Amino acid sequence: NKTLVITGAASGIGAATAAHCAALGARVLCVDMRPPARQHAGFFQADLSDPAAIDRLVAELPAGIDGLANIAGLPPTRPAADVLKVNLLGLRHLTLGLLPKLADGASIVNLASLAGFEWPQALPAIQASEDLDFAAVPAFCERFGIHGARSYFFSKEALIAWTLRHRWSWRARGIRMNAVSPGPVDTPILQDFIETLGERAEEDMRIMDRPGRADDIAPVVAFLLSDGAAWIRGTNVPVDGGMHAHILAQIH
Ligand code: NAI
Repeated sequence: NKTLVITGAASGIGAATAAHCAALGARVLCVDMRPPARQHAGFFQADLSDPAAIDRLVAELPAGIDGLANIAGLPPTRPAADVLKVNLLGLRHLTLGLLPKLADGASIVNLASLAGFEWPQALPAIQASEDLDFAAVPAFCERFGIHGARSYFFSKEALIAWTLRHRWSWRARGIRMNAVSPGPVDTPILQDFIETLGERAEEDMRIMDRPGRADDIAPVVAFLLSDGAAWIRGTNVPVDGGMHAHILAQIH
């Protein structure tokens, strides 16, 4: 049975993914800043906005991890620097720190978002963010005008670009990485997105028929973590009731 580390496991998509993978027989290790209702094979408390806390977490986790699902994230209504730290810097810090503990052939899945869809437009900032340090976040946000909700969009744009860029960085060990990009999903932070999108939210909901459910996303993450997805790498999979296609169809 596979050993999987799932961050954000206390709520929403992370909790659903943990439950789904456990039901498939995986040994699920939950990571979050607060304890999940279901802790599965174990719970590790960590603040993923803090590099020292992430280093401690990496030290506590066992070796031989077959899959890492980076699902923890903050919504666009939270302070810009915090959003960038959790959604991008913390995720990268954990992933890179955990590499020595990943088994050969391991799969990494990053929860991005439809909000990151326009990532190529942000390339200069994305390139500048590649080595961005936690302490330099306020100066970085100032330099690239990343304020308010823009931080959420940017964090997901940069995450998709990072996932594509490192699709095969750990090729010698067969470790691969992919992203999943949901449209609005009915979790505790759905209202944050509706607030951020304003009038557009209503139109989007009409196109998608309904908001997503955490259980619409969990099986996709589980599949990408599985051996069945062994030849999928550097992909960003939209799970959004057709929203991605709708935007593309308008452009082309
Ligand atoms: P949620 O708020 O239900 O769950 C997020 C989890 O992350 C929570 O358990 C929270 O405690 C944890 N978390 C937040 N900051 C943390 C930190 N500093 N350290 C450790 N854990 C932390 O949200 P949801 O909807 O399940 O979101 C999961 C992921 O899916 C996020 O990355 C989000 O950006 C992404 N997403 C969500 C969408 C939605 O509409 N709900 C749409 C597209 C992407």
